[in-house]
Amino acid sequence: MCALEVAPAIGTADGRGRLILRRPVKADATAIAELANDIGVAGMIARMPHPYGLADAEAFLARCEALDPRTDAVFAIEHRQFGVIGMLGFRQHQPRRPELGYWLGRPFWGRGYATEAATAALDWARRDWGKAVVWAGHFADNRASAQVLVKAGFLYTGDVELQDCLARGEKVPSRKMVWLA
Ligand SMILES: CC(C)(COP(=O)(O)OP(=O)(O)OC[C@H]1O[C@@H](n2cnc3c(N)ncnc32)[C@H](O)[C@@H]1OP(=O)(O)O)[C@@H](O)C(=O)NCCC(=O)NCCS
Repeated sequence: MCALEVAPAIGTADGRGRLILRRPVKADATAIAELANDIGVAGMIARMPHPYGLADAEAFLARCEALDPRTDAVFAIEHRQFGVIGMLGFRQHQPRRPELGYWLGRPFWGRGYATEAATAALDWARRDWGKAVVWAGHFADNRASAQVLVKAGFLYTGDVELQDCLARGEKVPSRKMVWLA
């Protein structure tokens, strides 16, 4: 598949097929703003403001449109029944270092959705996007994300870096991980 294809839709392949990862559109702004306006979400992400309003979601979606599809891919995680439940993306903040990030709205935690979405996205990154290495990091106090990344096949590099968390307004230890195709 062409590496320039912009974030095509991915169905999760666990047999139940309950999630679709697709390119975000402007109409997603309301759902994103509602779900992201939660310190339990923003406090686990480096650059998400809190509180988080519609203007933040619209600005985020505008930034997504400007991304280079060779290096960055952002998906809305859509549940077939509930609609948009969160976001997932590969962002290249450093050259040749695509980094996986994701969040789900609180009502959708604890149902295996993040593991399912991350696994499908990594399959796509390897098979269709041609990536052999993906990086990730989670704040040391984020047990849920640690579990998601381990289950998706990431390994700890041993590096722990202090990373700014916009919503907490402080630096937080972040444990670095790597995934090899
Ligand atoms: C992290 C997050 C995406 C996890 O999503 P999720 O869909 O609830 O995760 P899953 O249901 O796939 O759970 C994955 C594993 O984590 C475990 N887990 C979930 N919440 C946990 C918690 N609070 N503490 C410890 N383990 C937890 C689950 O039990 C599961 O493991 P298991 O299958 O062996 O039981 C979600 O909590 C979230 O969006 N949090 C806020 C934003 C965030 O942290 N983003 C990631 C930044 S690195």
